Amino acid sequence: MTTIDKTVVVLGATGQQGGSVAAALRADGWSVRAVVRDVSNHRARSLSAAGVEPVRGDLSDPESLRAAFSGAHGVFSVQPNSGQAGADVTNEDEVRFGTAVADIAERSGIDHLVYSSAVTAGSTTGVDHLDTKNRIETHVRKLDIASTVIRPATFMELLVTPEMGLDGGHLSFLMRPDQAMQFIAVRDIGRIVAAVFGSPDRYAGRTVEIAGDALTGNALAEHLTQAAGRTITYSRLPATLMAQDEVLAKLAALVDDGRLAGNANLDALRAEFPFLLSFDRWLAGPGAALLDEALRSTD
Ligand SMILES: NC(=O)c1ccc[n+]([C@@H]2O[C@H](COP(=O)([O-])OP(=O)(O)OC[C@H]3O[C@@H](n4cnc5c(N)ncnc54)[C@H](OP(=O)(O)O)[C@@H]3O)[C@@H](O)[C@H]2O)c1
Repeated sequence: MTTIDKTVVVLGATGQQGGSVAAALRADGWSVRAVVRDVSNHRARSLSAAGVEPVRGDLSDPESLRAAFSGAHGVFSVQPNSGQAGADVTNEDEVRFGTAVADIAERSGIDHLVYSSAVTAGSTTGVDHLDTKNRIETHVRKLDIASTVIRPATFMELLVTPEMGLDGGHLSFLMRPDQAMQFIAVRDIGRIVAAVFGSPDRYAGRTVEIAGDALTGNALAEHLTQAAGRTITYSRLPATLMAQDEVLAKLAALVDDGRLAGNANLDALRAEFPFLLSFDRWLAGPGAALLDEALRSTD
């Protein structure tokens, strides 16, 4: 492994994106400092075992961020899910966290800030937990700091969470059966971010929408059936459910108008990042254990 004598601070390293970024940066030889709320828990200890330096910090505590960013070259910024069922931060918290990270990075003399946003951030959508990203992006671009915004597509991991009901042999999601939507493996977010930190001249000042595959609902069902070895069918989320849930209805409308379906140029991305996983390769690799778990309850 080559060693790079520079440190990148990673937010959310005990979570999906930050964990992937920390692993990819370490694999490329960077020193990695992870801001964690509890340095003694098992996820922080796993980071230590992987050569990452966990430091105590909290997105709501600017002083802890200042200390964590001291002397670092780069910062990877991601905020927790906000404003939805199960989220313990509000949309306003997310915006406050995202802007604070960027402000403190600028004042700390950080050379390169990478902010992880979402595909919908190019416009105001009317969905509060998506529009947080638009607001943070706008703030980041006003600052005097070299920055790159990545806009990840919907995670492949989301499709095989236990709540999706794959154990019942069926998947319901936002797109119609014949309508394509883009997805990305969380593993590849980390690899792309590591490539971004590795070539600042190429990526500073850019906003990059990232995805690894585009799949219709029917194609998802085919790949899942193949990987599971049992039939998985697909339908769009029921109209009755969307009639009761305004946010779900808005999300489906954003798929219909293309903003949440994603508009990344997959051919160009695959040429630039040859490691990008298609959904079937993800199901055979990093997604295999997750699919197995999602199917397990009826075994
Ligand atoms: N799911 C998708 O398809 C998708 C697509 C595009 C973008 N996104 C966006 O991705 C983001 C979530 O990323 P993720 O899935 O990687 O998150 P995640 O796995 O839920 O992890 C959240 C991370 O944030 C940390 N955290 C939470 N509150 C904190 C605080 N107050 N101070 C410091 N750290 C804190 C957690 O650390 P602890 O260990 O301390 O809890 C954890 O490491 C959201 O903004 C979401 O909108 C999601």
